[in-house]
Amino acid sequence: MSKKEVRTVCAGLGFVGGAAHVPSFRKVPDSKLLGVVARKGRESERIAIQLKEKYGINVYYDWDAVCVDPNVDAVCIAVPTPDHYELAKRAIEGGKHVFLEMPMAPELQKAEELGRLAEGKGVVLMPILNFRHAPGYVKAKELLEVGAIGKPIALTFREFIAAEDLARQWPLSSWAWDIKKSGGYPDFTLSVWSLDMFRWFFKTEIENVKWAACYMPVEGVDSFKGYQTVGIIRLKNGVVGNLIYGSSVAKGQDTSRFEVFGNNGKTIVVDWSDKITLYGKGDEKELWKLEPKGPEVWGHKQLIAHFVQACLGKEKPEITYKDAIAAQKWSAKIVTDLI
Ligand SMILES: NC(=O)c1ccc[n+]([C@@H]2O[C@H](COP(=O)([O-])OP(=O)(O)OC[C@H]3O[C@@H](n4cnc5c(N)ncnc54)[C@H](O)[C@@H]3O)[C@@H](O)[C@H]2O)c1
Repeated sequence: MSKKEVRTVCAGLGFVGGAAHVPSFRKVPDSKLLGVVARKGRESERIAIQLKEKYGINVYYDWDAVCVDPNVDAVCIAVPTPDHYELAKRAIEGGKHVFLEMPMAPELQKAEELGRLAEGKGVVLMPILNFRHAPGYVKAKELLEVGAIGKPIALTFREFIAAEDLARQWPLSSWAWDIKKSGGYPDFTLSVWSLDMFRWFFKTEIENVKWAACYMPVEGVDSFKGYQTVGIIRLKNGVVGNLIYGSSVAKGQDTSRFEVFGNNGKTIVVDWSDKITLYGKGDEKELWKLEPKGPEVWGHKQLIAHFVQACLGKEKPEITYKDAIAAQKWSAKIVTDLI
């Protein structure tokens, strides 16, 4: 008898796991959140117990047991990047489908290894490249595909995170600033989503990215090093662009903006993930303001809905480890070129 629901255990209850994945696995169709993973005496245990009381789910302390538990169909891994490989490997070996945070592993060769292992085991291994489902990018892609800007010729992308916000999430002492363990600094980590988004958006590959970066403490923000990382990108379809990732701005100056320029003189601009503007001649412009909520804002919930259907064999996985590698190899170039 074919399965009707996917029973998932989530590991990693921090910034993204706790806020986006756990609530989404509870809510998307055909999904049952069985429980969450905690480590004794750590912050994750306090959060896990709260979730257990709130939702009546299980708390698991032993990952190896989760990986061989016949009641578990899938796992979500949103622990720090240095632990992705080990946790994912054991889950795949246990025959579980895996929803895996990005970067998949600090080294590309380990990401490839996980991908091949999953293929061999016949399980879904889906890297969490959620920008593909962010409502603003989805709408912008629809506009591109109906020819609203003619042929795309150039792009700009800017992602500024406020220094005090990033310092709270990933202080200098955290795994995110440990190049050896994580594969790079936060600019390496955070650029993978947009680099993947460009490949999906333009249906092409990245031909090259040249990077320049500056890392410097930010006045008034303790235990923190900022980054300003600039890329010049060329896609295989001829589109050229500039990228800037920054974490040195004050609160209120955080931005996310994606602009696509077409050969008919029109431009699509996506601000954050919900405001889309199509600029034409003179004052001519059309505006869409979408209203996604919670984990829908950056596409997490939508991707989880797709992952669940892929585990049930009802949808073909639209993102694979090959996509993760195709994006991550250009993020990794920040490290090999500059640091
Ligand atoms: N998809 C996205 O939008 C997005 C956004 C931010 C971060 N990320 C990625 O998600 C991952 C986690 O980032 P974060 O900012 O949420 O991290 P975080 O440090 O805020 O949280 C990590 C969580 O994992 C738990 N944990 C750590 N090691 C564990 C282990 N071995 N077993 C079980 N639990 C463990 C911690 O207790 C904590 O709950 C990273 O790979 C990061 O690159 C993805």
